[in-house]
Amino acid sequence: MIGLFITFEGGEGAGKTTVLQEIYNRLQQEGKKVVMTREPGGSVIAEKIRDIILDPTHTEMDSRTEALLYAAARRQHLVEKIVPSLQEGYIILCDRFIDSSLVYQGVARKIGVDEVLKINLFATEGLMPTKTLFFDIEPEEGLARIAAHKNREYNRLDRETLEFHHMVRNAYHELEKRDTDRIHMIDASQTLEEVIDKTWNYVSTVTNKAQ
Ligand code: TYD
Repeated sequence: MIGLFITFEGGEGAGKTTVLQEIYNRLQQEGKKVVMTREPGGSVIAEKIRDIILDPTHTEMDSRTEALLYAAARRQHLVEKIVPSLQEGYIILCDRFIDSSLVYQGVARKIGVDEVLKINLFATEGLMPTKTLFFDIEPEEGLARIAAHKNREYNRLDRETLEFHHMVRNAYHELEKRDTDRIHMIDASQTLEEVIDKTWNYVSTVTNKAQ
């Protein structure tokens, strides 16, 4: 496959979605072939699965059901969008991917990283991102940012405790240590401009190298 698959990861309120949008705009301005997408979702079927997972009334959702639904949505997104875009040589910027499942379902929901990795490798047939940006922020700070922007979509996971968000952050740090070649950490506690600059420097290096 000839495109580049770059994923954006991190806890709540790290600003990754805003940064992703800006990086997308800049790559487009440079005339690059670029696609922006997100998980769970990114295709009609996968967006429907997203609605089931994130529905605030679905309080009985079992953790393994949730993990399987994320993997199912990922499979459909990959088949319909990621693989075809890579084959056509696009740079794909994806808001969350496999690492979100390892962290949220594997660690925070306590299923185990290896178990969750297994069902995900089944779903993706082993396809991993070329590079992953991990936007790191203290949960207290991230949640305060979300509270300041109350018009954001509210979902079931926003109800989680602070402890849950700390587990998420620690789990991302562990993954980063295990896979330093792929996962690049960005300090998201800086100003948005600084975070965008650092991300842009990294993405430019990766995309220019690939040409
Ligand atoms: P979303 O509204 O997209 O939040 P964010 O802006 O933080 O990305 O909701 C996605 C939520 O789904 C988020 O809390 C993380 C969670 N999630 C998982 O638990 N596992 C996964 O595999 C994915 C992709 C997301």
